[in-house]
Formats: sequence, structure tokens, C-alpha cells
Amino acid sequence: MIKVENVTKNYISGKVKVRALDNVSLEIEEGECVILSGPSGSGKSTFLNIIGFLTRITKGRLWLGDEEVSHFPDHFLSALRREKTGFIFQQFNLLSGYTTWENISLPLVPMGVSEKVRRARAMKLLEELNLETRADFMANELSGGEQQRVAIARALINDPGIILADEPLSNIDAAHVKIVVDILGELKKRGKTIIASFHHSQNEMDKLVDSTVYFESGKIC
Ligand SMILES: Nc1ncnc2c1ncn2[C@@H]1O[C@H](COP(=O)(O)OP(=O)(O)OP(=O)(O)O)[C@@H](O)[C@H]1O
Ligand SMILES: [Mg+2]
Repeated sequence: MIKVENVTKNYISGKVKVRALDNVSLEIEEGECVILSGPSGSGKSTFLNIIGFLTRITKGRLWLGDEEVSHFPDHFLSALRREKTGFIFQQFNLLSGYTTWENISLPLVPMGVSEKVRRARAMKLLEELNLETRADFMANELSGGEQQRVAIARALINDPGIILADEPLSNIDAAHVKIVVDILGELKKRGKTIIASFHHSQNEMDKLVDSTVYFESGKIC
């Protein structure tokens, strides 16, 4: 369903060229839960950004279903991202000028969903994540673990088929890890595809995981 074929990704920063991914190939079936594992700098976030249509590949081919999307124009990729994926960012990327519920409901704004419905859907997720009392706090008034749970809620608000999670448990305490893993488990039962990166093995995820992919210096080993 998602196919990455001989993909290389180079970043150029000043005079330094980094080969963040080096000829990697992977196929992920619909409904699978795949963990990306490997040391810092090995290419996990880059891989997630590519399959989340957030960055373009340098070489190779990217497929979604039967369609090769590698060369789709930007506005097509943005539409795919909005409609098909929910992305939990490693750095959360919440907007500081907005409240918790507004941040969560932002993906629904371009779809023309009314404020009343957006707030109701955000509140439902906030309750599941034990955060309903923080609905009207500004994003910068939240603790790190709270921000991470808000970032998770925002990724789920449009009920995406593909959930991409970059170190989604790194700031969360054990009790909330269980809540988040249970939510991911429910989503998997509903047939969602889940792809998540972790620095360290995350035993709590074991019951959900279909396969683990190890990255090392931009290669899958
Ligand atoms: N925008 C960028 N510009 C230049 N280099 C980058 C950029 N993003 C990532 N890199 C480089 O690409 C390599 C892979 O980075 P990436 O973020 O994919 O690693 P990672 O496996 O997610 O690491 P971590 O576990 O620390 O999050 C790193 O060496 C990093 O410095
Ligand atoms: Mg990363």
C-alpha cells in the first residue's frame, strides 16, 4: 500500500551534503503497524517525512497504492497529506498563538468543518487523552507531555488511514503511555496503518507491532 523503492534523500546545508537515506526500499501493507528503530541521525524522521509527503525524495520511487506519487506536484501531495495521513511530529509543532482545542482542530479548517463540530471532535479526543481541563489553555501553557498528547490528538482528528508517529511516547509518563498505546491499538483494530519511530525499544508497543525496521546510517539493515 505504501511502497518506497530505492529511495535516496540528500540534504544540503551550506557546503555540507548529508545522505540521510541511502537507497532504501520498504513495502508497508494497509493495516500494518511498523516500527522504525535505530540510532539518532540514522534517517527515521527523514523516512517518516517522505512517506508523510512532507519532504521530497532525491532519487527513487514512492508509491501509494497503485499510484506512483514521487513526481506529483506540491498541491497534490499536500492534498494527499491532508486527506490520508495524520502526523505526530517529534518536536510537536503546536502553534503557540492558539489554544489546545484550536490546535487539535486545525486540520479540519481547510475542510470547511464548522467551529462547533471542530470543538466537539477536539473535546472528545481531549477526554480520551485525559486533557479536557486544558482545552482552553494556550499551547505554550502546556507541559511537554501534555503538548505531546495534544500533537497526537491533532494527528487523529481527521480520522486518517495512515498514522505517522515520530517518537510519539518520548515525553509521556507511563500511565499516559498506556492510554496512547490503547488508542493506537483501537485504531489498528479499525484497519489503520501505523508507522512509528522509536530510539529505544518500546515494550508497550509489542502487542501492536507487525514488523520492526532497523535504520543505520541511512540504510535499512
Ligand atoms: N533539514 C535538514 N537539513 C540538513 N540535514 C538534515 C535535515 N534533516 C535531517 N538532516 C540530517 O539527516 C540525518 C538523518 O536525520 P533524521 O532526523 O532523519 O534522523 P533520526 O533517525 O530521526 O534521528 P533522531 O533519532 O535523533 O530523531 C542526520 O544526520 C541529520 O543531521
Ligand atoms: Mg528523528
